[in-house]
Amino acid sequence: MTNLQEWQRRMHAQLASVSDQPAQEARWLMAQSLGLRPTELLVNAHQVLSSDQEYALQKRLDERLRGVPLAYCLGEWSFYGLDLEVNAAVLIPRPDSELLIHLALAEAVPEHEMQILDLGTGSGALALALAVARPQARVFAVEQSLEALAVARRNGERLGAKVVWLEGDWFAPLDPALRFDWIVSNPPYLASADPHLPELQHEPLAALVAGPSGLECLESIIQGAGKHLHPGGQIFLEHGWEQGAAVRKLLRTRDFQQVQTHADIAGRERVTTARSPNHA
Ligand SMILES: C[S@@+](CC[C@H](N)C(=O)[O-])C[C@H]1O[C@@H](n2cnc3c(N)ncnc32)[C@H](O)[C@@H]1O
Repeated sequence: MTNLQEWQRRMHAQLASVSDQPAQEARWLMAQSLGLRPTELLVNAHQVLSSDQEYALQKRLDERLRGVPLAYCLGEWSFYGLDLEVNAAVLIPRPDSELLIHLALAEAVPEHEMQILDLGTGSGALALALAVARPQARVFAVEQSLEALAVARRNGERLGAKVVWLEGDWFAPLDPALRFDWIVSNPPYLASADPHLPELQHEPLAALVAGPSGLECLESIIQGAGKHLHPGGQIFLEHGWEQGAAVRKLLRTRDFQQVQTHADIAGRERVTTARSPNHA
């Protein structure tokens, strides 16, 4: 018969082999598995666990020890202050993408009803952060994976955010007449042979890999964006830290204006922004 405190100690010790914050992870995993708030673990430290509870805890611990990312073990993750459901069908939202949201929200809101498009929405992270911050805007989000789109929809319902969720390939599911003020995207941008892929083995390959060069998705999006932007509309693209020059070139080749790359806090080029081409 093991109580909560002993389980917590056991988990802490074992998690040290996969985590640099084992005490915190032990608390989060226990709270999630037992349906408690982390603070309730302390209050109930001497509570003895049922065999079902022990089974649930052991299952979570084994998953985490096998290297499953903490976000998938917990089933939720925070992005821009929003708690989002995540599972293995979606990319785990990254703090890097918050830079894109900061840049967009620093822009003025147009006089007309604003329209925003998120391409490759995954868990819905970007679309939902913008929908919550700009509740008057009409937000559309496109995703090619049905499983991912189901997660995004649930996140939208959970947050009470109004987003039009569309399944399909980039601009294909959109009415050709639709025009946006902002198009945002964090598309797959790794090359098929990227050496970091083994570290990301638990996340969906289709969310990570663009093709042989890594630029294929960015190229498709840039190619289609001009005719879906209002005059003066803006595009915000997240990309790999070594892709800034290539993305700027792709945008300039398509006559985008005010092309600018922004660095993250580590000084790495992560997001490129531009205004719609004059002739769009
Ligand atoms: C890097 S993930 C980004 C997910 C989310 N926007 C975020 O920042 O956490 C890229 C997403 O694009 C989706 N995707 C890949 N190719 C696509 C395509 N041709 N059309 C629409 N979505 C696509 C993937 O399924 C994945 O969910």
